[in-house]
Amino acid sequence: MSSARNRLDGKVGIVTGAGMGMGAATARVMAGYGANVIVSDINVAAGEETVASILAAGGKAHFVACNVADEEQVKALVAETVATYGKLDCAVNNAAITPDVLPIADADMAAWDRVIDVDLRSVMLCMKYEIRQLLAQGQGGAIVNVGSVSAFRPQPNNSAYVAAKHGVIGLTKTGSLEYAPQGIRVNAVLPGAIDTPMLRAALEHNNFTEEDFAPALSLLGRFGRPEEVGEASAWLCSDASSYVTGHSLAVEAGYLTR
Ligand SMILES: NC(=O)c1ccc[n+]([C@@H]2O[C@H](COP(=O)([O-])OP(=O)(O)OC[C@H]3O[C@@H](n4cnc5c(N)ncnc54)[C@H](O)[C@@H]3O)[C@@H](O)[C@H]2O)c1
Repeated sequence: MSSARNRLDGKVGIVTGAGMGMGAATARVMAGYGANVIVSDINVAAGEETVASILAAGGKAHFVACNVADEEQVKALVAETVATYGKLDCAVNNAAITPDVLPIADADMAAWDRVIDVDLRSVMLCMKYEIRQLLAQGQGGAIVNVGSVSAFRPQPNNSAYVAAKHGVIGLTKTGSLEYAPQGIRVNAVLPGAIDTPMLRAALEHNNFTEEDFAPALSLLGRFGRPEEVGEASAWLCSDASSYVTGHSLAVEAGYLTR
């Protein structure tokens, strides 16, 4: 029986957008639970830094550069995972961007398409090639898509991101329905206000401080730590969550309960 300390022992997992923020923390948490982690990011230097931090802590990790909006690169990411560690067991599809700040009537459709490509189409692409590999192995598996509380509590001037994150929940549910018979579980985590470079950039853009913002976004009155979301994703990747699929797990300190 696996204990919390080794709950991902022997498993091979991909984390996209693992160069910084929540992806990096998730990769470190998963490696801490014994997984062989494929750290993937479009930013090579950042991804390699995450790998170095995992290796320094005694974990196992390997970097693969990948732009998740590019189908050939996503296909190659899964292929290199199998070439490196021999199989795939789980994946956390985490990479995303948030540059959309115009109201709908003023939207620049090229920028809108870019967010949809990186935040939604990417999740479809990752699921497509991850699930193909899991089906080929025939042993099931677990996929975690990173959504957002924006799927339930949208903000104005952020239509592409909000639409993409609604779509991530739709893809998660569809994947869970299609592949439950083959033992592949597909879940989402919905982070609230988590202290990452993405959140810090949004604060700066809006001239907010943590003191202004955190009490409105968290019943606990503070931003979340990236590893607090990483723990949820690691649990959903592990056999400890074997009866959970199609679920969206909010990690938001009660923000959605108000
Ligand atoms: N930070 C928050 O408060 C918050 C809240 C809700 C949801 N989220 C979601 O959590 C996830 C992680 O967010 P974060 O705050 O850690 O973001 P971040 O901006 O701090 O880090 C994102 C990482 O993704 C990488 N990336 C960007 N575009 C990519 C691409 N095309 N291909 C591959 N990698 C790419 C970046 O290089 C970076 O390493 C995202 O899905 C985000 O939407 C974040």
